[in-house]
Amino acid sequence: MRNAEPWRIKMVEPIRLLDRAGREAAIREAGYNTFLLRSEDVYIDLLTDSGTSAMSDLQWSALMRGDEAYAGSRSFYELEAAAREIYGFKHIVPTHQGRGAENLLSRILIRPGHVVPQNMYFTTTRAHQELNGGRFVDVIVDEAHDSSSDHPFKGNVDLQKLHRAIEEAGPENVPYVCVALTVNMAGGQPISMENLREVRAICKRFGIRLMYDATRAAENAWFIREREPGYADKSLADIFKEQMSLADGCTMSGKKDLLVNIGGFLAMNDDHLFDQAKELVVLFEGMPSYGGLAGRDMAAMAQGMREMLDASYLGHRVGQVRALADQLAEAGVPIVRPAGGHAVYLDARAFLPHVPQAQHPAQALAAALYEHAGVRAMERGIVSAGRDAKSGKNHLPKLELVRLTIPRRVYTDNQLAMVGDAVIELHRDAKRIGGLDMVYEPPTLRFFTARFRPL
Ligand code: F0G
Repeated sequence: MRNAEPWRIKMVEPIRLLDRAGREAAIREAGYNTFLLRSEDVYIDLLTDSGTSAMSDLQWSALMRGDEAYAGSRSFYELEAAAREIYGFKHIVPTHQGRGAENLLSRILIRPGHVVPQNMYFTTTRAHQELNGGRFVDVIVDEAHDSSSDHPFKGNVDLQKLHRAIEEAGPENVPYVCVALTVNMAGGQPISMENLREVRAICKRFGIRLMYDATRAAENAWFIREREPGYADKSLADIFKEQMSLADGCTMSGKKDLLVNIGGFLAMNDDHLFDQAKELVVLFEGMPSYGGLAGRDMAAMAQGMREMLDASYLGHRVGQVRALADQLAEAGVPIVRPAGGHAVYLDARAFLPHVPQAQHPAQALAAALYEHAGVRAMERGIVSAGRDAKSGKNHLPKLELVRLTIPRRVYTDNQLAMVGDAVIELHRDAKRIGGLDMVYEPPTLRFFTARFRPL
């Protein structure tokens, strides 16, 4: 049977496609940066899966039942109970979104000179580590940097790299090892349970904490069930909890797995770390029982937590991503293989072999896709990688990607097939796409607001 949408539509939001001249004007005004487009001018918005989910009927009704008390909100206790049950961590501190949790964790644990090994970087995570004087060291397997590798767990940690990173820094200078499930910048690639167990063992041997970036851990559980021997008959809830049982805590952006438009949390088992987080959250977010969120946001997040591991939802979601990837691959469009959990990544180096990395091929491709079809995607290449904090030189990532990110429960299979058609058309004419020159570069997280000009 066809893998059709496991929901029906109760409310619609009209979208419109500007004509070609309108799209050219819009992207020019946006400095050829898709982050700077107005959403009204976008037809299909695949910028991100963050905060863009459609909430369920139960989530909308949870909003109405949110307890807005300043202290001791019932909605907080509902969230805490759901997190304890589903994630299994002892304590949770809500934050306004994932980077709020990253801020707390980095401030508490990182000191100048510290090193944080991680399976590839994420933009905001690394920025917070560096802001506190730490240095990120990439310990992901080499296959993750190769868009053509079919490795089933490209998010895995290379255990030798991890060993080396800890020994070179000295274990006393490694406040925690950070492991992302799945790995966004590698293409939404999963990490296996076996690898998580091995990472856990190394951390234990050195007496170092293991903290997850659990932002898309539901999708990771799906891939473990699908690809890892011994997991085919286990429930997603059990696999999810087993993943979590190997860590000491996590940062979490609720805007992804938890199907809400805003929210996140920091979770941990350690009582002392919890006390420190409660002290800091008051300064940066709010009382530990609301952490920068309205009671209704926490209520919707608790409900989302109860929906994220539903097999019909998650299967359709991962299936949508895979269908788009298959459509593109069959037409010879270069993409990261295998398809990840939340997005299809176009390989801009192979798509635009005539555009050197210094001319921002992924940025140029994202702009061209908007011009061609009103589809908004995101650069994940040299612009996102930014500059080295010490030397000031550009990081030169091996992967130069354009991310077509699929929001949860928002677009139909037909809309995504239309996106696939548009990318295939663009690929046939790729020679006509030229590079871009960066004319404005902000000092941090430059990809959000940088501006460009066609060369
Ligand atoms: N970690 C990962 C793996 C993420 O993908 C994100 C956000 C964060 C942390 C930060 O969470 O946005 O709630 O503060 N990713 C979004 C994206 C922005 O488009 O990939 P946040």
